[in-house]
Amino acid sequence: MAKKGDKQKVAYIGMSADLVHPGHLNIIKEGAKLGEVVIGLLTDEAIASYKRLPYMSYEQRRIVVESIKGVSRVIPQTTLDYRPNLKLLKPDFVVHGDDWKGGVQRETRQQVIDTLEKWGGKLIEPAYTSNISSTALNNALKEVGTTPDIRLKRFRRLLGTKPIVRGIEVHNGITGLIVEHVSVSKNNKKEEFDFMWLSSLTDSTAKGKPDTELVDSTSRLTTIHDVLEITTKPLVYDGDTGGLAEHFPYTVRTLERLGVSAVIIEDKQGLKKNSLFGTAVKQELADPKAFAEKIRAGKKAQVTPDLMIIARLESMIAGKGVKDALKRAKIYIDAGADGIMIHSKEKSPKEVLSFCREYVKLKNKVPLVAVPSTYDTITEDELHKAGVSVVIYANHLLRSAYPAMVKTAQTILNHGRATEASQELCMPISEILTLIERKNNGS
Ligand code: SPV
Ligand code: MG
Repeated sequence: MAKKGDKQKVAYIGMSADLVHPGHLNIIKEGAKLGEVVIGLLTDEAIASYKRLPYMSYEQRRIVVESIKGVSRVIPQTTLDYRPNLKLLKPDFVVHGDDWKGGVQRETRQQVIDTLEKWGGKLIEPAYTSNISSTALNNALKEVGTTPDIRLKRFRRLLGTKPIVRGIEVHNGITGLIVEHVSVSKNNKKEEFDFMWLSSLTDSTAKGKPDTELVDSTSRLTTIHDVLEITTKPLVYDGDTGGLAEHFPYTVRTLERLGVSAVIIEDKQGLKKNSLFGTAVKQELADPKAFAEKIRAGKKAQVTPDLMIIARLESMIAGKGVKDALKRAKIYIDAGADGIMIHSKEKSPKEVLSFCREYVKLKNKVPLVAVPSTYDTITEDELHKAGVSVVIYANHLLRSAYPAMVKTAQTILNHGRATEASQELCMPISEILTLIERKNNGS
């Protein structure tokens, strides 16, 4: 216990504190026995660098942590790495639960020990509070769900915190559940998809219909509802051409009310054909001024400024090149577009990268979205370096499901029975019976 008159010792505690529980309070109590408690509160960027974005913003978390008994000061910890703050503060102690001795935080722990050693500081590791876990609380939160307002704003929050925001297509409830729950551990980080792309191509194809705006907005809205009902991640809606300029404001209002984060509309007119046909079919570009008016009408219709209207450039799809795309980007940004999506159907990323080189020079540029469906060798890192903020894997769940289903159907036909398909190609019946229940419970 620190005595009166002693120079107050400093105990540093790094935490995210999104869901504060007795485990946090115990660590703070232990820290307060050693000296003045300084909390290094991980910023949204620091948290998003290794796991899901926190539910509360940094400011909200700061307000909570500052009022916890025993906390003297809260400072931002902008990286997962403790060292920058430790070098700045030179604390006498770092206090952390002993649960980080193994697993993904092992390396961070060793760095803390080595850094503290330089000025004789010590790492104190109280026993981990075992009857409560942030993971369990997080899963419980997923079960509770989200609200339209929280979900809607989350996409902009992601844009402000992650170098590249990653989405993949959904076209029904089960694909929504996959995007909600699938993750991998890579380099001590949890990698997952940040948002869902409600693709017109896969929504239409799943219904056995062409991607020509034939599937009407009532039907598309039903898919949106199915997906929103069982997920918490942000949804970006593929709005095709946005329809008639007079109708688009109504679409915007509906999406906003539902908690959709963004709508992307493409500058085409006439019977819309999927962009990946390229110039093999007639691709009619919209008059840029008329398209800008549609964007303006949409922006004006919003009740709050949060929903994003992203303008999609089809110049390169229609064979009109980078120059035309850039000219249009400027017009659409001036009209209020919150983002620009550049599309290409080339095998090579060259064309997109040459657009990016010019785009990043724009003074009033907005976040740039890329859809590497055909130029799929490019990595997210390379796209980020080129100035792209959002990457969409636009059709991959459906494209992988279809051949798997065809193969199963053929295998049954070939054998005149189901055992081969069942054993080699299908998930066990016991698993399919409980799949949905488990997914909805966050496991
Ligand atoms: C979609 O996913 O429906 C898209 C992207 O609009 S693309 O299919 O490449 O046109
Ligand atoms: Mg589409």
